[in-house]
Amino acid sequence: MRIIVTGGAGFIGSAVCRYLIRETDAQVVNVDKLTYAGNLDSLREIADEPRYRFVRADICDRSAINAVLAEVRPHAIMHLAAESHVDRSIAGAAAFIETNVVGSFTLLEAGRDYWLAMNDRDRDRFRFLHVSTDEVYGSLGPTGLFSETTPYDPSSPYSASKAASDHLATAWHRTYGFPVIISNCSNNYGPYHFPEKLIPLVILNALEGKSLPVYGDGSNVRDWLYVGDHARALHLILTNGRPGDKYNVGGRNERSNLAVVRTICAMLDHIDPAGAPRERLVTHVPDRPGHDRRYAIDASKVEAELGWRAQESFETGLEKTIRWYLQNDWWWRPLRERVYAGQRLGLVAGQRG
Ligand SMILES: NC(=O)c1ccc[n+]([C@@H]2O[C@H](COP(=O)([O-])OP(=O)(O)OC[C@H]3O[C@@H](n4cnc5c(N)ncnc54)[C@H](O)[C@@H]3O)[C@@H](O)[C@H]2O)c1
Repeated sequence: MRIIVTGGAGFIGSAVCRYLIRETDAQVVNVDKLTYAGNLDSLREIADEPRYRFVRADICDRSAINAVLAEVRPHAIMHLAAESHVDRSIAGAAAFIETNVVGSFTLLEAGRDYWLAMNDRDRDRFRFLHVSTDEVYGSLGPTGLFSETTPYDPSSPYSASKAASDHLATAWHRTYGFPVIISNCSNNYGPYHFPEKLIPLVILNALEGKSLPVYGDGSNVRDWLYVGDHARALHLILTNGRPGDKYNVGGRNERSNLAVVRTICAMLDHIDPAGAPRERLVTHVPDRPGHDRRYAIDASKVEAELGWRAQESFETGLEKTIRWYLQNDWWWRPLRERVYAGQRLGLVAGQRG
């Protein structure tokens, strides 16, 4: 199977490329623009594999995408390229509209033209997996879960742009019969996670004895999934999911942000008692504007229909992640020095970081 993975130099996309090369016999072409979030170092362990290839291209560039499709002749596209950080979307939404909405539209159109020109057998087998987020559903109260039929109610420029692209993907299936499948996943964490996101930021700041910023009172809840479990789910959905269907993916690991930070501190104190107690570094900072209170995924459809289940608990996955950051400063140190040094992003006028 030849698969194009868009956004394969990002956090989840690189986990998908590594998974496909290690665990399947697929040929993988990673199509990525290499924005600040794209990093070919995350693909170092598969870079020399004959079944893996990287092509630098922007998904908004129709002629570049047409050329890749004509040359690769994929059996499937896994679409992960996106602007993905909520705080950056608050600071400047334009790139989110461009990549997440216009880029997804461009890819759907290019993919559809390519699919229409295939022979009957290949056309029947072709799949377009549109990878999305649970943030499109908005915010939950203290109880309840997001299911595949929960109405969309996005709060941030990021989640609104992802919701728009999900609607386009659904429409391309309903109107044109284009074999789209959509996945909506909860917050991921794991190795190769860009150091501006909560978990890697807290691990690295705690290691360096720096303050650990917690938005507001830290009671906002996320449902955490280890990135390797997500990559496995995406491959299953691609190969066994039904075109036109949606699948929610989550780890049944709800934690408040403050609980996440405290667990990281406790694990690091255990591994390296010299810096203990790291909880003294916790600093409450102004909340994110429009901060959703709680996300939680009902993953029963992907579990029952496709036999997927998260293999990592939050504690096992977090410990693996912490140990990975401890052993791989070659990966994160240049990012901390050159791309993102820990400054607060995404405050609106009148707020102070
Ligand atoms: N991170 C999460 O917790 C999470 C959870 C659920 C769903 N998702 C979704 O999964 C996908 C991947 O998320 P991630 O966390 O790996 O993001 P990321 O920001 O780490 O990576 C995004 C990748 O897309 C590339 N890219 C950006 N704009 C592009 C363009 N115009 N053309 C080509 N490539 C471009 C970047 O260079 C980068 O390599 C996104 O669609 C995101 O919405 C993420």
